[in-house]
Amino acid sequence: MWPRLYNLVALSCIFPRVLGAPRESASSFAGATSSDVFPPHGATVTQYETYFPDAEQVGFPGPTPTGAEPQAIATAPVAALNLAHYPVVVQTSQYSGAGSSFDPIYSWGNLGPWYSVGGAFGLPETSPQIPDGCDLEQVHLLFRHGARYPTAGEAPSVFAAALHAAADSTGWSASGPLEFLNTWTYKLGEEVLTPYGRSLPFNLGVAFRVKYGSLLNDFTSIPVFRTTSENRMVTSLSNFAVGFFGVPDYLTSYHEEIIIEANGYNNTLAPYETCTNANNDVGGNIGGYASGNWTQIYLNKTTERLQPYMSGFNLTADYVYAMQALCTYETVALGYSAFCGLFTEEEWRGFEYSIDLSFWYGQGPGSPNAAARGVGWAQELLARLTKTPITKFDTNINGTLDGNNITFPLDQPIFADATHDVVIANIVTALNFTTLAANGPLPWDRIPVGQTYHVQQIAPYTSNLVGQVLSCPASATNSTKEKYIRFLLNDGAVPLTGLAHCETPNKDGLCLYDNFVQGLKERIAEIDYDYDCFANYTIPVPDTIVDGRMPRA
Ligand SMILES: *[C@@H]1O[C@H](CO)[C@@H](O)[C@H](O)[C@H]1NC(C)=O
Ligand SMILES: *[C@@H]1O[C@H](CO)[C@@H](O)[C@H](O)[C@H]1NC(C)=O
Ligand SMILES: *[C@@H]1O[C@H](CO)[C@@H](O)[C@H](O)[C@H]1NC(C)=O
Ligand SMILES: *[C@@H]1O[C@H](CO)[C@@H](O)[C@H](O)[C@H]1NC(C)=O
Ligand SMILES: *[C@@H]1O[C@H](CO)[C@@H](O)[C@H](O)[C@H]1NC(C)=O
Ligand SMILES: *[C@@H]1O[C@H](CO)[C@@H](O)[C@H](O)[C@H]1NC(C)=O
Ligand SMILES: *[C@@H]1O[C@H](CO)[C@@H](O)[C@H](O)[C@H]1NC(C)=O
Ligand SMILES: *[C@@H]1O[C@H](CO)[C@@H](O)[C@H](O)[C@H]1NC(C)=O
Ligand SMILES: *[C@@H]1O[C@H](CO)[C@@H](O)[C@H](O)[C@H]1NC(C)=O
Repeated sequence: MWPRLYNLVALSCIFPRVLGAPRESASSFAGATSSDVFPPHGATVTQYETYFPDAEQVGFPGPTPTGAEPQAIATAPVAALNLAHYPVVVQTSQYSGAGSSFDPIYSWGNLGPWYSVGGAFGLPETSPQIPDGCDLEQVHLLFRHGARYPTAGEAPSVFAAALHAAADSTGWSASGPLEFLNTWTYKLGEEVLTPYGRSLPFNLGVAFRVKYGSLLNDFTSIPVFRTTSENRMVTSLSNFAVGFFGVPDYLTSYHEEIIIEANGYNNTLAPYETCTNANNDVGGNIGGYASGNWTQIYLNKTTERLQPYMSGFNLTADYVYAMQALCTYETVALGYSAFCGLFTEEEWRGFEYSIDLSFWYGQGPGSPNAAARGVGWAQELLARLTKTPITKFDTNINGTLDGNNITFPLDQPIFADATHDVVIANIVTALNFTTLAANGPLPWDRIPVGQTYHVQQIAPYTSNLVGQVLSCPASATNSTKEKYIRFLLNDGAVPLTGLAHCETPNKDGLCLYDNFVQGLKERIAEIDYDYDCFANYTIPVPDTIVDGRMPRA
């Protein structure tokens, strides 16, 4: 943290009015919730329908040949990487020196957009492009929805309500770097995709067509792509499909399978709905405790630093945390946020770590039931890889849907499933991607040296896990082709060395298909869904779990 004196000197240079200057007080609407409505009340698109015939009615479309399907994942000499976040603007810290290259957006954990992570998982010498000599056979895609507004009851709306209530009763005033709060209102919606958020699955769809479009030639039926019933899930899959198939073709090019996401419903893409211990004190709260304890530590000095600019309202570490969260949410919703500049690089690293802790203990390696939540999708992957129908429904699979080859086809060249951040974290735990957990249990009171578990690399908005099924030469000297699989998480190849039968390190992250299938079967067998999700157990203190399962005596 910054020494206090240095801090005040620095701030008084940037904000000369702060010390001794009269404060502007908050107007009575500060912190109020503001919300707009479009289309305007009473206006509908059908009202003047006859004045606006559609393209088919008008005719004269011009030539429409579409050409051959692209397969850039094989044909392009280098990979197309995702490294920008147009059209949102991220205000960098007003405390970092000129020319600092630090961009807070890469410290936003699950609250920032996905980007290509390169060799982050330990395989820097490969790329998303399929390795030399290999042919692409099939692709399995699991992706998170696009950028959203806060979910119900998250910190930002709580902070806004507190500010507003205080403005109405006792009054407060903000100055210096916080002066904007005097007229700030809470403009965020809830749960659904933001406008920028829609672009993420849309762009993923476009990218997927460019990279893997040629696989469409191998379909013998209309593809089934799956999502859950929540609004942002359905709109994310639709936006993906619009990108992938184009308008209006997307309407006739795939079956959209919408699996009910609600308490008690079996859903491998929303497995917390049936895993009781994911939501209770037995096995569901430890991520929140770890991150909560860390927040009190890393924002303690920050709270004291910002308090002098707020008179009549007492800041807490939780309120300051809400301001960091507001930076992320306002940016992805409104395109810009004045909150972002309030924090130093170190404070952003603290924020990032709070999310790493929350996921590690709540959704990933340190959770006693993360693997159990991810196991249903692992079983579905196994069924798809081996083209074997699922007949035993003893986890979180919906047997009505998966027991039917129309709603759960096994023979698609491209599979695409949309899901949530936490579920991707559950699934990579179930798949035993142990290198993500390589640095062991995360301390609650400091950021350890060599931290490898970064949520912004695992579960950001539209995070995407891509399983490439390839046929490749058996070795450098033997050109006989053998079948392999590898996984790219946000374009970073994941070493599969933690899974039985895939132990041999490989610079491209490849594992022989048959070996992966065998390892996956063994992994599924070692996960005890009923025990981890429903038994009354006591998590070890401290929590030393690293493979997402409750240890058994
Ligand atoms: C399975 O899915 C079907 C179709 O949506 C639904 O009617 C049924 O309630 C689901 N069952 C469970 C246990 O989730
Ligand atoms: C800190 O962790 C303990 C459990 O060890 C928990 O009871 C407490 O609520 C946590 N504190 C915060 C602020 O989250
Ligand atoms: C910072 O930590 C000190 C010492 O534990 C504590 O007294 C103080 O209340 C904390 N400040 C905030 C804002 O949490
Ligand atoms: C802020 O905290 C101080 C000391 O803890 C207390 O005296 C004061 O009344 C509080 N102010 C408000 C607005 O809550
Ligand atoms: C839902 O899962 C449970 C096992 O966890 C199973 O007993 C039940 O039959 C499943 N329901 C459906 C419709 O698949
Ligand atoms: C789907 O299942 C039906 C009846 O169980 C079977 O007749 C049909 O051949 C199956 N279709 C495919 C593509 O496997
Ligand atoms: C080449 O690889 C194939 C597949 O692994 C194997 O069956 C075959 O024996 C190998 N040939 C030679 C000459 O090593
Ligand atoms: C999964 O990883 C754990 C270590 O975290 C290991 O003990 C276990 O054997 C692995 N399971 C399989 C099937 O590879
Ligand atoms: C779990 O067991 C503890 C005692 O070990 C008990 O206090 C608690 O009520 C039990 N919880 C449930 C949900 O049964």
